[in-house]
Amino acid sequence: MTYRKISESEISYTELMIPSYANFGGKVHGGILLSIMDKVAYVCASKHSDNYVVTVAVEGVEFLSPVEVGDLLTVNARVVFTGNTTMIVGMDVECYHTQTKTRRHTNSCFFTMAAKDQSGQLMQVPGLIITNKEELLQFNEGRHIREMSKRKRIVFEENEGTTNLQEIIDACSAEKCRIELQA
Ligand SMILES: CC(C)(COP(=O)(O)OP(=O)(O)OC[C@H]1O[C@@H](n2cnc3c(N)ncnc32)[C@H](O)[C@@H]1OP(=O)(O)O)[C@@H](O)C(=O)NCCC(=O)NCCS
Repeated sequence: MTYRKISESEISYTELMIPSYANFGGKVHGGILLSIMDKVAYVCASKHSDNYVVTVAVEGVEFLSPVEVGDLLTVNARVVFTGNTTMIVGMDVECYHTQTKTRRHTNSCFFTMAAKDQSGQLMQVPGLIITNKEELLQFNEGRHIREMSKRKRIVFEENEGTTNLQEIIDACSAEKCRIELQA
């Protein structure tokens, strides 16, 4: 089993938000931001595992404030948790506007990435060497995210098995919908 320091794969990537990234409202498309973050997650996880990796899941993407054309968007990413074949990459995204000299934190999120060999088989990834309290707290947060993600999958699987229509109608009636089932 090999172990690597977080600092060996930690990255910071900055990109100018150009007009072609904008939506009809003049702000940067959420999908553009997700694509940039996905690429950063790839770089970070492939550096840690020294391997080809794929995106498995994304947790906690919440856009706290819009990203403007002209902003310098910086994504700071590091592997916060390692499992057997997966790594959780934690990301902080911030924007800097050079004219107004303002800096905004726009979102934080977690990408789970899996290492695969050339035949598509999952591969073991190196563990993490934790060297300070901040890294330990982040590792623990990553552990919680993995547990939460497992519980979420169990809830989805349980819900998929729900066949009692009246139970579903009762539950959904409490929400904002009108149930008008056709025969
Ligand atoms: C995600 C994937 C690797 C899971 O494969 P699997 O054989 O069902 O995996 P297992 O249940 O044995 O789990 C393997 C690992 O994935 C993790 N995992 C599986 N599903 C997951 C999910 N929905 N969210 C987070 N982690 C997940 C498991 O916790 C496990 O982690 P560990 O090895 O670090 O403990 C597989 O479904 C896959 O390759 N998906 C496509 C990924 C891809 O191509 N992404 C690019 C999109 S274009």
